[in-house]
Amino acid sequence: MTEVFKLPFILSGGLGMGLLFPIFASMKTFQEIVQQTEFSREDLTTLLLAEREERQLLLQQAQSVKLQTIGNKVFFRGLVEFSNICAKDCLYCGIRKSNDHVVRYEASDEEILDACRFAWENRFGSVVLQSGELSSPVFVERISRLLQKIKELSNGELGITLSCGEQNLETYRQWFASGAHRYLLRIESSNPDLYLKLHPENDFHSHQRRLQALKDLRTAGYQVGTGVMIGLPFQTIDDLASDLLFFKAIDVDMVGMGPYIEHEETPLYEFHSQLKTRQQRFDLALKMVATLRLLMPDINIAAATALQAIDPAGREKALTIGANIIMPNLTPTKYRKDYQLYEDKPCLDEDAELCRNCLEARIDLAGCEIGYGEWGDSKHFRK
Ligand code: 5AD
Ligand code: FES
Repeated sequence: MTEVFKLPFILSGGLGMGLLFPIFASMKTFQEIVQQTEFSREDLTTLLLAEREERQLLLQQAQSVKLQTIGNKVFFRGLVEFSNICAKDCLYCGIRKSNDHVVRYEASDEEILDACRFAWENRFGSVVLQSGELSSPVFVERISRLLQKIKELSNGELGITLSCGEQNLETYRQWFASGAHRYLLRIESSNPDLYLKLHPENDFHSHQRRLQALKDLRTAGYQVGTGVMIGLPFQTIDDLASDLLFFKAIDVDMVGMGPYIEHEETPLYEFHSQLKTRQQRFDLALKMVATLRLLMPDINIAAATALQAIDPAGREKALTIGANIIMPNLTPTKYRKDYQLYEDKPCLDEDAELCRNCLEARIDLAGCEIGYGEWGDSKHFRK
């Protein structure tokens, strides 16, 4: 409503003062909106559209809410991208099944366990095992076995997050019983119509199925993380406001979201000329992180790697204004070039040791402190 009655209308003098005053009085300033603790869809849209001084105000407020609520600690999740073999064909993803240019790999148990041992010895607190989506019994059993071995090698100390796509409730339960306690499954977009434009139109790629998987993860007992891509073709600001409301509605514990980055070998590339510039997508992603921090002050928010593909200091910028999780890449270096979900993915050559040293310095620069040896569960979940 207030959108329609902005200043130009008021200045036009179309109505008597008696009518004007209540309308004028109900309009909130940007400063008032950022200081709220509850946000309407309209408020969220206003925040996401903020430019210049207003944008600065939003980022500052998010930083201060973060510091007051969860402090300045950043938690590491060592990321092991253990296989790029995927049964799915998401239209945006570089490792989709139909991309014949990808050299497919599967890291050995030993390679995966070595990466996890590195995480444990370097007091990372937890690891994320991520792969393309498979659901064969062999795959399911292999993950269970690996989970148990990771628990063994770390005296049960290393926290384990899985990011292996949609599975049935039984599989989620089996993996939980084997030692995983967090699961990342991005909704990609909360708008079913937009989701349909990003995925092949069949039951295997349905929005409904994705929603059910998120529910099943809760039922199985996981801390659930989800997220979206920002700056997708056909995506509107209203879609992004809906995404934020969706995170709140499902009461999520963790969110990872980053800019969409086109990949030439995917069908969605066809629309690349319609995209915002990469810098605009980056700026919007930062505003999403900041706005989410205001909306859900005590959840874990990851500084997505895709931010760094656009701006070398992208992840640190996100940490400064609201994020508190970072995922150093522990994938064996020889596989990294084959796990390119999007173009210009950073850290393709660094080994784990280099990544760690470089991150320590960067996090220090962002004014944050590393929570070594801690699982770093969200305050939200602990509540
Ligand atoms: N650009 C940005 N993010 C992408 N992802 C997949 N493809 C792209 C892309 N082209 C993200 C998805 C997925 C996560 C593992 O990576 O959101 O859930
Ligand atoms: Fe692999 Fe989407 S292409 S899960």
